[in-house]
Amino acid sequence: MIDQHVVDRIIAASDIVEVVQDYISLRKRGVNYLGHCPFHNEKTPSFTVSPSKGIFKCFGCGKGGSVVNFVMEIEHLNYVEALKFLAKKYSIEVVEKEATPEEMEQRNERESLMVVNAYAQRYFSDILLKHSDGKNIGLAYFKERGFHTNTIEKFQLGYCLEQRDAFTRSAVHDGYKLDNLVKTGLSIQRDDGSTFDRFAGRVMFPIHSLSGRVIGFGGRILKTDKKFAKYLNSPESEVYHKSEVLYGIYQAKKSITQENRCFLVEGYTDVISMHQAGIENVVASSGTSLTHDQIKLIKRFTPNVTILYDGDSAGIKASLRGIDLVLEEGLNVKVVLLPDGEDPDSFARSHSATQLLEYIAKSETDFIKFKTRLLLDEAKNDPIQRANLITDIVRSISVIPETITRSVYIKECSRLMDIKEELLYSEVTNHRKKKFEQLIQHGTPAGAVKERETPKLPSYISGIYCEEQEREIIAFLLNSGDKELFHHTTDSLDDPEISITVAQYVIDEIMNDELEFQNLVFKKIFDEYGKLIAEGPVPDNRHFINHPDSQISQLVVDILSTRHRLSRIWDNNSTPDGNDINFLQHAIPKAIQVYKSKVLKTAIKRLMDDLTNLKSDQKDEINDILGKLNQLNDLMNRMSKDLDRVIL
Ligand code: CTP
Ligand code: MN
Repeated sequence: MIDQHVVDRIIAASDIVEVVQDYISLRKRGVNYLGHCPFHNEKTPSFTVSPSKGIFKCFGCGKGGSVVNFVMEIEHLNYVEALKFLAKKYSIEVVEKEATPEEMEQRNERESLMVVNAYAQRYFSDILLKHSDGKNIGLAYFKERGFHTNTIEKFQLGYCLEQRDAFTRSAVHDGYKLDNLVKTGLSIQRDDGSTFDRFAGRVMFPIHSLSGRVIGFGGRILKTDKKFAKYLNSPESEVYHKSEVLYGIYQAKKSITQENRCFLVEGYTDVISMHQAGIENVVASSGTSLTHDQIKLIKRFTPNVTILYDGDSAGIKASLRGIDLVLEEGLNVKVVLLPDGEDPDSFARSHSATQLLEYIAKSETDFIKFKTRLLLDEAKNDPIQRANLITDIVRSISVIPETITRSVYIKECSRLMDIKEELLYSEVTNHRKKKFEQLIQHGTPAGAVKERETPKLPSYISGIYCEEQEREIIAFLLNSGDKELFHHTTDSLDDPEISITVAQYVIDEIMNDELEFQNLVFKKIFDEYGKLIAEGPVPDNRHFINHPDSQISQLVVDILSTRHRLSRIWDNNSTPDGNDINFLQHAIPKAIQVYKSKVLKTAIKRLMDDLTNLKSDQKDEINDILGKLNQLNDLMNRMSKDLDRVIL
């Protein structure tokens, strides 16, 4: 946590024109500056910086925001990291909240373990390149696998001598504490006090953090003996959390941003060989299925993931399960199957980068199609297996956050599996509804909120009354719920017609953010509407006009009989028309965004009020509120970016 007054100083000191000019050149145009947008490719400049307002805005891709947002976006940092980045540029000392003694101790321990790992990496590399055994055994092995010297250096590969405690002795001799060596897992201590090297006789693959520090190792055995594990890895420690790490992310991150896509492979050697072939945007999950944290890591750099699998990998199906996570995070997942008997390592060694990319372009399939085909093939004509398959695919589709993407997949599955589209729709909607109801009843499962990155309103925001906006959304549902809002044709499909009703769109949007209407009557209408469309077609207004609950029927009649009362956000002169699809396509997403940002704005205002009512010695309360404010401002920024896009 950074003190608020320091935050204010950083923001005041940061000259947006100066900061932007570190990345692109700007020309003065009137009171503003103009340049080529760094976030998308453009021929004519549409990236505008307003020094007086302290904001940037690209009229090509819609990105916009404050100087902090600019740094967040271009450096892939979170809010606090971006502030620190700017503080450094303007030489402002950042005083963070004082750490507790436990925090200090933990920080010191982390630092000590990092230092040990850095030492070990240098040691193993030196042995590999200079020691006779290192050269004859370790280096010879890497050379035989076709790794060039600069590749070996780039990945800081090494060798651990076979003598049982050669490394440990050297480290202790050089002044490293045995205790820390044991904590990193590099050294193992027996009950009798004797020590030995975990990785003795193995070639070493250091695992780097995002910023390039060594946090752990993988060690590969050289002989093929089934008795020993092919790879040993560092155990979990204060610095190495396997589930949060992707092998190769440090070496890949720049290329992932440039290419706007990330290749995902299984192993260390796959990453290295692909690099050597000239493809650098590649990371490895290290043989396990992906975790939320790993996905979040990729998502900082790109939403596009292409998974490269061995043609004959038995693990495909196991990995498939993990992929629902990737879909849930809204990433675009493609799958490439390599020819039988090849893995990315062997394939990259026998092909050039161009050939590799050609093969990938030719054979990549979207994930749902891939999964459907694979399972369909297995189920053949067995009706029970087919039923299981449908459930499985429906579950995958229902976790995808975007309505349009879901519809594309539903269409496609309906064709592939020869099942009525309506049936799939209602299954998917049921799934989403169920999940939604669980969330409402039991609160979000611990973890889930923490792990999600999409702007999601935190649970302490509740009970915010936005009657005008709630009413507007209900009015859209009642007036135009059955209208087709989006009609999509895509060229990747054989049968490319996608249709989304206003009702589907609105319900999904509100459900995704777990928002609840505060006006009780509006809430009743909304919930009932959601249930009805999960079960069948969009309900007729008569259902609500004749509703047994007289509050509902009266309000519905009121809404339907007054002209669709539009709030201040619609400033155009044309009469809005609930049947005019162009108007609805513009107005409905905007109404929802306005509603959400109103909720957020009110929440921020409440916190500010709370803050002014606190006394200066209520440190904990103040910090708590400042933390929340940081978080909400962050959300607000992201939200207003979306809102800009909607307005454009
Ligand atoms: N792995 C592991 N422990 C094992 C086997 C595998 O941690 N006992 C992890 C490693 O990260 C490895 C990945 O799973 O890189 C993929 O395993 P595999 O395909 O067997 O190894 P490769 O990386 O292909 O290694 P090689 O080409 O040297 O056989
Ligand atoms: Mn391999």
